[in-house]
Amino acid sequence: MEAKLKKLLSQAKEEVKEIKDSQLLSDLKNKYLGRKGDLAVLLKDIKNVATEERPVIGQIANEVKKELTHIFDKLEHSINNDGSSDLDFDPTMPGLRRELGHLHPNTQVQAEIEKAFAQMGFTVFDGPELESEYYNFTALNIPEDHPARDTQDTFWLEDNNVLRTHTSNLQVRMLEKYGAPFRGIFPGRAFRNESTDASHDHTFYQLEGLLVDKNINIGHLIAVMKSLLSAVFQAEVTVRLRPGFFPFVEPGFEMDIKCLVCDGLGCPVCKQSGWVELMPCGMVHPKVLENGGVNPQEYSGFAFGLGLTRLVMMKYKINDIRLLQSGDLRFLRQF
Ligand code: PHE
Repeated sequence: MEAKLKKLLSQAKEEVKEIKDSQLLSDLKNKYLGRKGDLAVLLKDIKNVATEERPVIGQIANEVKKELTHIFDKLEHSINNDGSSDLDFDPTMPGLRRELGHLHPNTQVQAEIEKAFAQMGFTVFDGPELESEYYNFTALNIPEDHPARDTQDTFWLEDNNVLRTHTSNLQVRMLEKYGAPFRGIFPGRAFRNESTDASHDHTFYQLEGLLVDKNINIGHLIAVMKSLLSAVFQAEVTVRLRPGFFPFVEPGFEMDIKCLVCDGLGCPVCKQSGWVELMPCGMVHPKVLENGGVNPQEYSGFAFGLGLTRLVMMKYKINDIRLLQSGDLRFLRQF
């Protein structure tokens, strides 16, 4: 019996050398260790062994079983790890590549824009996402009953606090803190309580800019916007300026760019219009300067609220905004 057990072990060791995939391995496992496998069949004969020898045989059988289990497990592990077993390891093959992480496309574009603005003398600032009604609305010349509040689809929190609906919440905060002249950008998340579709998400990124100094006019605004867009797209992009209304700028504009996903032909991103609203902007309203403690007689400025998420979509021709926050690695690996 002892000899038979040892033979079984060495036979299994031979057979295992041929195994290269997990299906064959599991067949082999069954053949030896299954309920009706070779080991089980062999052990049925234990009743023919002399009583005093049984414990010794039992122990040997246990060891054989343990060793087989170990061999099978080890092979299974190496098959599952890299699809091939240790047994046919070839040191001349190229190594396995480890996957490296990388920055989210949003972060990449943000970094590019920050660099472009730094060259124009802007500093990057950060501020709260949980904001008071005052800084998100009132300080920006949007009083309580103003219809502009409705268009913002606000997530209201306790005590009249909100999830900021735009990065403009930092305009008055920054002027209060740093005064004029001021040159800064504020990238960050904004939140809107609206239903989502290919071009709307409840959470998205904006990049606000604010420049306040003496004798600033619309020409400065346009020049800065254009150098920004050519830095991001590395090419001239087609833009158009429309009048736009925001209570905190006067005059206010919408800067649109020709949709780069469909090249102006019409697609879900541009709602079939061929144009994408990218950058609301305008000259800072005197009331806003006043609220920030800056004298509007002495200073003027411009502000813009770049849709950072939209810009990322344009740049990489992404046709659904929801992909960006989906955490889907099949999507993210492409950047
Ligand atoms: N905060 C505005 C919005 O999100 C955009 C904006 C910013 C408009 C700055 C003008 C100036 O809708």
